[in-house]
Amino acid sequence: MNIIDIESKYTSGVSSKRPLAIVRGKGAHVWDDSGREYIDCVGGQGTANIGHGNAVVADAIVEQARTLISLTEVFYNDKRAAVEEKLVQISPNHANRVYLCSSGTEAIETGIKLARYSTGRTGIVAFMRGFHGRTMGALSATWEPKYREPFVPLVPDFSHAPYDNLDKAREAITDKTAGVIVEVVQGEGGVRPGSQEFLRGLQDLCRERGAMLIVDEVQTGFCRTGKMFASEHFGLEGDFVCVAKSIAGGLPMGAVMIGERVKKLEPMIHGSTFGGNPLACAASIAAIGYMEQENLAARATELGAYMKGRLERIESPMIREVRGLGLMIGVELKQKVTPYLMALMERGVLALPAGLNVLRLLPPLVIEKSDLDIVADEIEYVLQEEK
Ligand SMILES: Cc1ncc(COP(=O)(O)O)c(C=O)c1O
Repeated sequence: MNIIDIESKYTSGVSSKRPLAIVRGKGAHVWDDSGREYIDCVGGQGTANIGHGNAVVADAIVEQARTLISLTEVFYNDKRAAVEEKLVQISPNHANRVYLCSSGTEAIETGIKLARYSTGRTGIVAFMRGFHGRTMGALSATWEPKYREPFVPLVPDFSHAPYDNLDKAREAITDKTAGVIVEVVQGEGGVRPGSQEFLRGLQDLCRERGAMLIVDEVQTGFCRTGKMFASEHFGLEGDFVCVAKSIAGGLPMGAVMIGERVKKLEPMIHGSTFGGNPLACAASIAAIGYMEQENLAARATELGAYMKGRLERIESPMIREVRGLGLMIGVELKQKVTPYLMALMERGVLALPAGLNVLRLLPPLVIEKSDLDIVADEIEYVLQEEK
């Protein structure tokens, strides 16, 4: 049996799979099991910002694996200390503490739980089209009915207000609100950047009404949008800034940068076995160092503007809008996007959907301009035909 047959037989089935087995990557390129090369604009769903096969991070992982992989947070550790200090230093919210975990949804759960803990209230205001993860708390904040409905009843006291509408947010946030959870750029919801007025307005409302602002930077974090964190574009300072995806060069890791409005956290009120394990921490220090040294934020700004320009110049009746921030780009189509993603794959380009009709690009930030040219040409080519 080949790889696809074996996986098809034994996988849980919850992923919608494409008929391709990827076995190797380098930079912004990946190879399938027959040796065919692809330009990768999926980027591990935004986890591969520093590129595949990054030697700096690979070396850090190997060295740490030989030194110490496992250690619970009960004990102190050199790599964990270094990553906590680094995250506080680069935090967009003047954080004074960090919580470490292993995924985006776990970082979001932490934000929700600690917002309740810190305020003694229960209400959580989230936004329409928002995506925050699949565990029960994060799912309760996620908007898409298809993801939510099979699992009701979800966690009580969650509500959804329209995104980028400050007047509606003003109505939704009350003295019962523990937390307001928001993406700076909605990712799965269609690559929609929030406005300065909306995001900073939420921050003011939270401060005025005693609620905690939980900023979800799981997808936008670590240089993706042209800054280390997308919050920096707007001077946004969440009480919790939740990150994951590319924090550790692709190894599973999440973190919450906790601001000073959050009350003192008592031992044992929250925790995670794998959180802060030395292997992920070593990878994270190397990955963040690499991003800073190579100035990947500036690269995302430059290449993002270039790519957006290229896509905007495509003359196709199929395109409704091109939008995004840095190298987080969405092309909204007037049609369903899946057939175009499959056509692109056949032509050697891997891209993502965001909802039903948005083509999303999350390439490694080390991608070459010449590769982006090929991607733009191929998108133009596949859009010539109605599918
Ligand atoms: C904005 C946002 N928040 C949370 C998550 C959940 O992260 P994870 O899949 O690591 O649990 C995602 C995942 O795509 C995301 O894009």
